Amino acid sequence: MENTRVPVALGERSYDVVIGERLMDALIASARVLKPTSIFLVTDSNVGLLHADFVRNAIVANHVFTVPAGENSKSLRVLEGLFDDVFATRKLDRQSLVVALGGGVVGDLAGFLAATLLRGVRCIHVPTSLLAMVDSSVGGKTAINHQTGKNLIGAFHQPVGVFCDLHFLETLPAREYVSAIAEIVKTAAIGDADLLAYLETNTDALLRRNPDVLRHVLARCISFKASVVAEDEMESGRRATLNLGHTLAHVIEAALPEEFLHGEAVAIGLVAALRLSVAHAGLDAVQARRVGDLLARFGLPVEVPAGLTTDRLLEIMASDKKRAGDVIRFIVTPEIGRASVLPCGLDGNLAASLLGRT
Ligand code: GLY
Repeated sequence: MENTRVPVALGERSYDVVIGERLMDALIASARVLKPTSIFLVTDSNVGLLHADFVRNAIVANHVFTVPAGENSKSLRVLEGLFDDVFATRKLDRQSLVVALGGGVVGDLAGFLAATLLRGVRCIHVPTSLLAMVDSSVGGKTAINHQTGKNLIGAFHQPVGVFCDLHFLETLPAREYVSAIAEIVKTAAIGDADLLAYLETNTDALLRRNPDVLRHVLARCISFKASVVAEDEMESGRRATLNLGHTLAHVIEAALPEEFLHGEAVAIGLVAALRLSVAHAGLDAVQARRVGDLLARFGLPVEVPAGLTTDRLLEIMASDKKRAGDVIRFIVTPEIGRASVLPCGLDGNLAASLLGRT
């Protein structure tokens, strides 16, 4: 089957997201056109074991850097180690290319490395997780964490190409695969009502990782994200709506760091955001229940964990990037397929709505 190409239209910085199986030929062709003087492949200890040699041989990467798998690698310390390794090769120049092979952590870290080396060298993303394919590899957000919070040090740096090879998803652990489906349901809720119906009909096939269903879902999600990014690259407006469900998700991740994967926290956050949408944005309660039921059918959590108290919720939300004074900007859906911003007072009423404990 032909590869699917989704353009991200950003003038001179436009690029394609290629979706297909066995994409190495497309990756080689793209690397040839770019004529890099050197290629730095960044991967992690899990993905590297499975796929680094394959990709390294395909694109003749000069240097492979493997960081430990896990969120802790999005740190200044690991980034500094990468800078040391890159400079030690003495092969870095403005025509160098960074290739990020891995999930969201590798994409964010290697993307930020590319954004900052010599004030910016080119980067190709080869996402290997479903979450990275549907969300983080597209749109140019790169970042590392600081002890104060997640993604607080970063830059917008668009890649020159993204290659989503479905073959990588075959080896993804089930829990990680399923958790990413929350971002897919989010896309349907904010921008694609037809996708929601498609997910309802194809729940089992998506869980079985059916390639045709995956290809369709990836193309829909990436096309939608590409259209949002093309309109608002730097998140001064519409791009913020991609954060539906993410405010509570970040609270859950901060309060209970070991308990939930990002996508699982997003699933809980989505249900809370829809509760808020019913109460304050006119969303039909039947539609909100439809989304919650779908998330549950995928095996995702939908209840706010009992251990999260109102005080802790308000305390963590007070340091949210979207807060201005006592007001926090929430993303809501007045109807499935549409999103808007709802400024909310940071108080007990908001906490009760979010926690569903009114
Ligand atoms: N993950 C949301 C965005 O890229 O804007």
